[in-house]
Amino acid sequence: MKWCCLIANSVNIHDICIKSTKTQNSTTQMKTLIQFINEMQTSNPFATGQFTRLLNDIGIASKIVNREINKAGLSHTMGETENTNVQGETQKKLDVFANEQFLNALRFGGACAAVVSEEEDEAIIFDNELSNQGRYVVAIDPLDGSSNIEVNVSIGTVFAIYKRNSEPGKPADETDILQVGTNLVAAGYVIYGSSTMMVFSTGQGVNGFTYDPSVGLFLLSHPNMTIPDNGNIYSINEANYIYFADGVKEYIKYCQEDDKKTNRPYTTRYIGSLVADFHRNLIRGGIYIYPGTTKQPMGKLRLLYECIPAAFLAEQAGGKASDGFKRILDIHPYTIHQRSPLFVGSKKMVEKAEYFMERLSKNFCEFPIKEN
Ligand code: AHG
Ligand code: MN
Ligand code: MN
Repeated sequence: MKWCCLIANSVNIHDICIKSTKTQNSTTQMKTLIQFINEMQTSNPFATGQFTRLLNDIGIASKIVNREINKAGLSHTMGETENTNVQGETQKKLDVFANEQFLNALRFGGACAAVVSEEEDEAIIFDNELSNQGRYVVAIDPLDGSSNIEVNVSIGTVFAIYKRNSEPGKPADETDILQVGTNLVAAGYVIYGSSTMMVFSTGQGVNGFTYDPSVGLFLLSHPNMTIPDNGNIYSINEANYIYFADGVKEYIKYCQEDDKKTNRPYTTRYIGSLVADFHRNLIRGGIYIYPGTTKQPMGKLRLLYECIPAAFLAEQAGGKASDGFKRILDIHPYTIHQRSPLFVGSKKMVEKAEYFMERLSKNFCEFPIKEN
């Protein structure tokens, strides 16, 4: 009762943030996402404010998506549309809704000149006076793991941010959109789970912000996230086993062997939402694998808005990401919906999987270079 009165009479949101922190840690003041980004910006004398604006816009859109997800069972936002995306997957209503929210936020924010989205066949070049001044381009999976929407299992949003190559003032072009992962300036994800979190990196470590719905703010809850060098979780859709390369099969066998010294057998955890599987492994230590198969030699996940952001975050947290042979961030994309096998997570686990791939499946992905 007293606490309610305190909120009702409280002077500003900042006070509320401090109070909410005190329940967790009486000595630390919790930073809001906006405060955190602003501090980053003020420490960079060349910053124009556009990047701050961009991350803020992504944050706002994610709150709207979060609200819609939370009431999905009550509203008419569950279920499928009659459309399929360019990858031939049926679009869910929430896929479409999330796509619209992020596109609108970016279109009118003035910092983003173009977007590649899983739900759009072509790259969206905004080409309006404001957006042409934008210094950034964004690749986004608006709703990741959408097959889990109906069953209340964690889903997410994944994004990657590049600085454009072409000069601001004109519409963005292909050289801005198809950039190698090493050019990234930031990447992150939002996980809509038991709590909603935004986790992102600007190339100086990884920070996680938990959404406090009572005040409508993301608060820094997981500063400087690092992934353990080793773990005991492996995450892979083993139902595809017969289609896997021998290297993957042998690595799975290795995970299942009994060896006390290396804490094996490991344990399997597979949610089916990259964001959720990645997030758990980031915190606990583990490896996530979506390999190429004999049916889909380049795997399922998309390079620009799934593999590259996950790889960037993994590396920033001290982990590793590869396609089984080479670093994901070194792959030069040739098309916007390009796929790539993904091995991501704890450094030593990824290295061990690569060892099996190198030894047993070196030529597995050699031919389907133009596969989509
Ligand atoms: P999306 O919902 O954006 O299409 O992504 C689904 C992806 C990824 O999130 C997940 O890890 C993977 O598909 C699961 O695929 P399988 O069902 O083939 O295991
Ligand atoms: Mn996805
Ligand atoms: Mn998606």
